Amino acid sequence: MTTTPIIIDCDPGVDDAVMLMMALASPALDVRAITTVAGNVPLHLTSRNARMMCQIMDRADVPVFAGCPRPILRDPVTAEHFHGDSGIAGLDPFEPDAPLAAGHAVTHLIDTLRSAGPAEYTIVVTGPLTNIAAAIVMAPDIALGIDKLVIMGGADSEGGNITPFAEFNIFADPHAGAVVFDSGIPATILNLDVTHQVRAEPERLTSLRALPGLRAAIMVQLLEAANVLEARWKEGRMTPMHDPATIAYLLAPHLFEARKATVSVDTEAGMRFGQTRVSALDEGPHTWVTKADADGFFALIEELVGKT
Ligand code: BDR
Ligand code: CA
Repeated sequence: MTTTPIIIDCDPGVDDAVMLMMALASPALDVRAITTVAGNVPLHLTSRNARMMCQIMDRADVPVFAGCPRPILRDPVTAEHFHGDSGIAGLDPFEPDAPLAAGHAVTHLIDTLRSAGPAEYTIVVTGPLTNIAAAIVMAPDIALGIDKLVIMGGADSEGGNITPFAEFNIFADPHAGAVVFDSGIPATILNLDVTHQVRAEPERLTSLRALPGLRAAIMVQLLEAANVLEARWKEGRMTPMHDPATIAYLLAPHLFEARKATVSVDTEAGMRFGQTRVSALDEGPHTWVTKADADGFFALIEELVGKT
């Protein structure tokens, strides 16, 4: 089987944790490194949570590099209200056996991508875009080593989830978002318009719970905890599968519909701060994902964690 070499840049985060479980379980993905960023919770917690997930998945061989502890320009913003104080609601936090890898995430990204073959790497990003923007600013030539970015972020028709207009990952570092979307590196963007179509409905969790093995049970614990937190904001609403959508897209693009687009970010102070603006015309360097097959999405998850 040919495998896709990927680096995952994330801020776990409950849905990042589910995303990591999917990626680390997939024989089709060669996860070469995980880089962490401040986002849902501060950097020391996102870095610990990423290592926890590696240990749970028996993948302590995957190095985890800590990256930027704050956004480029704006004040830091976190999202404990959706992820719990630990960032990993649903699991009892523990200190993983494997330490952080030596070196800074941004340095690792630059060194790896500079020594890569042409378009060798796919970079999955499920947190604020700070690390990726910093790497692009420091070393624009890393673009040569990247096939594409697969990003969870932004919103168009759905409106925002942290303000009426902005999605959390972009709002948490809009200036980084602007650098990345303007960089010329093609990005496939799993945004709220599509992630809100796939939610952890009770019948999905019942089906996951019936699978053998500890990992499906752990995933259910995470998603149940996320559902409890989500319902505090709107009764009866189930948690969207934001970050898992990146891995589902990579493994099964036929489950999605998308169009070409240009994407910009509002970086002016004001009520639209952090809003993504998506071109009306179906042309541009980026791929804006618009639809997902929720049944196929959960069937993929079951296939990934049901065997492990
Ligand atoms: C994004 O924001 C974070 O809270 C989630 O982990 C996800 O990456 C959804 O807007
Ligand atoms: Ca995230």
